[in-house]
Amino acid sequence: MIMRAQKKHAPATDRNREPILAVLKDCLPEHGTILEIASGSGQHAIYFVDHMPGHYWLPSDPDLASRDSISAWWWDVQLKNILPPLNINTLENFWPVEKVELPLPVTAMVCINMIHISPWESAVGLMKGAARVLPEDGILYLYGPYKIDGEHTAPSNELFDLSLQSQNPDWGVRDLNDISSLAGENGLSLVKTVPMPANNLSVILRKS
Ligand SMILES: C[S@@+](CC[C@H](N)C(=O)[O-])C[C@H]1O[C@@H](n2cnc3c(N)ncnc32)[C@H](O)[C@@H]1O
Repeated sequence: MIMRAQKKHAPATDRNREPILAVLKDCLPEHGTILEIASGSGQHAIYFVDHMPGHYWLPSDPDLASRDSISAWWWDVQLKNILPPLNINTLENFWPVEKVELPLPVTAMVCINMIHISPWESAVGLMKGAARVLPEDGILYLYGPYKIDGEHTAPSNELFDLSLQSQNPDWGVRDLNDISSLAGENGLSLVKTVPMPANNLSVILRKS
């Protein structure tokens, strides 16, 4: 008997996917493969690529159950421009995407809600990987809550930060200045930020 993999459901994706898509359509290069880091359930991948038929979408996650979920969601839509999920852990110095053949080169990377729900080293690895994988002018899109100049932008973000740190002391809402400095150390610069619903931020970086 063939067992179909379990789909994960992340309710927040239903709320944030539309506003994120609007920003992606505005900031992503017109063509190419979009490498998504930390795809989680895969719901974003399925939704975004359905609205961006000119792109290939390459999801990834280090968690096997998440990669199975991405494949399970893919099964429903069977879109040709979603590529099979890769096992990418930003903590690693070499990512499988660096050796696979793709229908179009990677022109952008998208990473939603990972940086605060993993240790700071994951963000360091993300930027190092972006420096290796992105072409000149390639875009790195980040989404999540951020502190600005050391301050939370809303009481709800402060509570969220405390709850993250109680789950894991290495997790927590990051400061935009730290992200911007880290990006600079890796040859990326901040293009702009876009305020998003529920006190989140879209952060758009470009490799120079
Ligand atoms: C809160 S989920 C977000 C999933 C999805 N992007 C979303 O918005 O629904 C965080 C994801 O980050 C992944 N993750 C954690 N550390 C990572 C790392 N070092 N490299 C890549 N992914 C990582 C986890 O496996 C998990 O799927």
